[in-house]
Amino acid sequence: MSSDKKVDDVDCGRRRLLVATSAVGGVAGIAAAVPFVASMLPSERAKSAGAPVEADVSKLQPGQMMTVEWRGKPVWIIHRSPEMLESLKKTDAEVSDPKSERPNQPDYAKNEMRSIKPEYMVVVGICTHLGCSPSEKFKTGAESGIDPAWQGGFLCPCHGSTFDLAGRVYKSKPAPDNLVVPPYKFVGDTKIVIGEDTETKGA
Ligand code: FES
Repeated sequence: MSSDKKVDDVDCGRRRLLVATSAVGGVAGIAAAVPFVASMLPSERAKSAGAPVEADVSKLQPGQMMTVEWRGKPVWIIHRSPEMLESLKKTDAEVSDPKSERPNQPDYAKNEMRSIKPEYMVVVGICTHLGCSPSEKFKTGAESGIDPAWQGGFLCPCHGSTFDLAGRVYKSKPAPDNLVVPPYKFVGDTKIVIGEDTETKGA
């Protein structure tokens, strides 16, 4: 029985990942409750080479999220509103790594916000348990359908792991770690390059 479950889990992960990566082209239906900004794709050649990709965040409004594909993975960029940033103080006591000290991120993301600029979160949208793609759950409180005290974040439907709006995993969940922050850097105020930073070349 347990081996069957493992197979199911892996299949689930693959399926979710496929859904996530195929959504990069901009399937608006997946974001019925949250404004969704069309994704930007690098050229096929750049993708196959694992090259850095650029994202223009000039039209990404506070509270909105966009997805870009980097090395075949969905990377989420969230323009966090002041309310979203404030929520991170409330989840400090609920997450397993409140200061974000674990190693699955560049040094510049080892802070409570897990980001270079507090208002922009950049994170790989793959669950650290078995690789499903979590769903955004930006609605708060009872409206979220998760918990009356929910502050907004992400829910992995496969086995119920939850992450806050910095990608920090909640305590006592199957996922062993926070969502991964990829290397990235800002070029000007409105362009983010993913896959390259000033510390790591092509990490
Ligand atoms: S894959 Fe198991 S909780 Fe996300």
